[in-house]
Amino acid sequence: IKKIILDCDPGHDDAIAMLLAHGNPNIELLAVTTVVGNQTLEKVTRNALAVARVANITGVPFAAGATRPLVRQIEIADKIHGDSGLDGPELPQPTLTLEPIHAIDLIIDLIMSHPPKTITLVPTGGLTNIALAVRKEPRIVERVKEVVLMGGGYHVGNWSAVAEFNIKIDPEAAHIVFNEKWPLTMVGLDLTHQALATPDVVARIAAIGTGPAKFVSELLDFFSLSYKARQGFDSPPVHDPCAVAYVIDPNVMTVRKVPVDIELTGTITLGMTVADFRSPPPPDCHTQVGVKLDHQRFWDLIVDALEHIGEV
Ligand code: BDR
Ligand code: CA
Repeated sequence: IKKIILDCDPGHDDAIAMLLAHGNPNIELLAVTTVVGNQTLEKVTRNALAVARVANITGVPFAAGATRPLVRQIEIADKIHGDSGLDGPELPQPTLTLEPIHAIDLIIDLIMSHPPKTITLVPTGGLTNIALAVRKEPRIVERVKEVVLMGGGYHVGNWSAVAEFNIKIDPEAAHIVFNEKWPLTMVGLDLTHQALATPDVVARIAAIGTGPAKFVSELLDFFSLSYKARQGFDSPPVHDPCAVAYVIDPNVMTVRKVPVDIELTGTITLGMTVADFRSPPPPDCHTQVGVKLDHQRFWDLIVDALEHIGEV
């Protein structure tokens, strides 16, 4: 069983990442923390709690984190995720309540109170919370097992020609997180643009027929329209669950060990994840990037998780 903390900004794909983590029997979801990103902190936090209600996630602490990036002004992705941050399905009134502590303290407390190298951090939003946590308690770097994040792209951008949204909205935070010496896997756009919710996938999910599966179908319907209109995709890339899937089963993707750093001073390359593919990688290289997704294996995991959640 792998213990993870999901730090997210739901967000359609974040919601599916939550459901995957909850529904997969090999994952223990230790906490869900939220960060400003796809929408304001208030909205993404409400969305996270609504998703918990949809899937009947109980006994998992939820805490809200950063309300804005470290340096930059807030930039949201309402063009992709809508005004609520999770447009499409009707969102139920949450029943869970938030922990009365800041997300970064929940992250630190969990990591410091568990045995060393037992917790994987899975950020699927901007990296503000993780950067703040590591500055507040630097010992978490030694203590976590690894960081597996959705963000960046070594050859692809979506928020600029070369930068991806999660990195671009808080590049200084990303710089902190990528430069700490923990083992870090970047599941970037090069990988997630292979995680397309193609018509056969959408049909498989619809066929499950439960409430949570219907919720996912409705998320995918909206996501598909946004991605068609805004980014020219025939089927939407479902980014965030790819990071969770890698924790569940590393065989879901091939990875390559390469140094990655974050551009902070570029005039047209701000927030670029600069990956150095020269061979061999330096011996102290602690970063790797997702390269090739096993599409079948990935969607099987999502379908399995939804079947496992069942009707709630
Ligand atoms: C990332 O940006 C967000 O809009 C998605 O939730 C995902 O985490 C993709 O660039
Ligand atoms: Ca996200």
